[in-house]
Amino acid sequence: MGNLQGRRIVLGVTGGIAAYKAIDVCRRLVDAGAHVAPILTKGALRFVGAATFDALASERVQTSLWDEEHPIPHTRLGQGADAIVVCPATARLLADYRSGRSGDLLTATLLATRAPVIVCPAMHTEMWEQPAVQENVQVLAARGVEIVGPDEGRLAGGDIGAGRLAEPEVIVAAVERVLTGGGHDLEGRTVLVTAGGTREPICPVRYLGNRSSGKQGHALAAEAAARGAKVLCVSTVPERAPRAPGIEVIAVETAAEMATAVGQLAPGADYVFMAAAVADFRPVDVAGQKIKKADGPPEIRLEPTTDILAELGRTRTPGQVIVGFAAETSDLRQNAAAKLAAKGADLIVANDVSAPDTGFEHDTNAVLLLDAEGGEAMVPLTGKRQIARAVLDAAIDIRHRRRAGNGVDS
Ligand code: CTP
Repeated sequence: MGNLQGRRIVLGVTGGIAAYKAIDVCRRLVDAGAHVAPILTKGALRFVGAATFDALASERVQTSLWDEEHPIPHTRLGQGADAIVVCPATARLLADYRSGRSGDLLTATLLATRAPVIVCPAMHTEMWEQPAVQENVQVLAARGVEIVGPDEGRLAGGDIGAGRLAEPEVIVAAVERVLTGGGHDLEGRTVLVTAGGTREPICPVRYLGNRSSGKQGHALAAEAAARGAKVLCVSTVPERAPRAPGIEVIAVETAAEMATAVGQLAPGADYVFMAAAVADFRPVDVAGQKIKKADGPPEIRLEPTTDILAELGRTRTPGQVIVGFAAETSDLRQNAAAKLAAKGADLIVANDVSAPDTGFEHDTNAVLLLDAEGGEAMVPLTGKRQIARAVLDAAIDIRHRRRAGNGVDS
């Protein structure tokens, strides 16, 4: 059985000379067991024939938003995909995808998916090195899009330089890695993730909240599911949570609701990631009616909430790995080390939320990982999905080390 058995992959092909190599990629994906649905752009059709893909892929080539059997082909393809691979990706495709334009079936499908996307650029060196193209690639990478290649080598017209499509086997390996996390190393494990900022009501229309977007927690949920885990995602922003097989989303709003949900679910979890920004205090009294301006500035008395992470540290089940997050604006290492000890966590993921491009609402992050055994690692600025990968690797490592220490096979 291939590594991609039963996985649904949309293979997007755009108009570049490297389009002929997409034929090999298509064949290799099918050989690995994937169900491949090809989309060719008008430009691609000038380089390769639809009949070739019709013969090799798992379903017929689609080329347009309008002429297909299904009335809304982009949502059928986008929603049904486990991954989308664009190979080759022209400068036009990169620009359209970066800016959210949906002028053809492929770009519309890219917008209509929550599946991971792998983009394989190929173009002449001068085009590839254009600041506009480079910026588009960086923005896409920061959003979690996997960029594969390009390589250096022979280009069309006898030129040599950067811009050559990555080798088909490298592209297929990237698809496997994205879909299986380099192996289903969380198969059979249950992962509990919290995401988003809690909202503590003041009155029916107002609340005390924070700037957490839930993006890092949701990236962890998506990555853990891709690696085979059963994921329980307790989120204050469930509408933004990833929808994927294996992810159950539990909607909560307040710190108390989150504490209850986590309290119920944690005993069954092998890993707990407290990525949510939980309010430390909540209003003592919640007004039953909207507080009116005419009544003057209200005085809001606050009381502490439960520290969920500290509670998890106290009530942990044997073998469970507990991961906390620390959002800091100063003395990152010192504050994170103090939280690690105070809360009884196995790992703290610390980020400086005042640094540019990191923390709340951004698509990128840079973190310091501190573990309870004194281990320390920096993950420099990258997409939140890539941060999620590093955090999961570190947590899995802790579990393996602990079990090896106890003489148990992991
Ligand atoms: N946390 C929690 N319950 C709370 C507050 C925080 O479980 N009531 C968790 C967060 O999910 C995070 C970690 O504790 O994983 C650290 O959160 P943070 O807000 O950085 O730390 P605090 O303990 O609130 O300390 P401070 O606000 O003073 O920095």
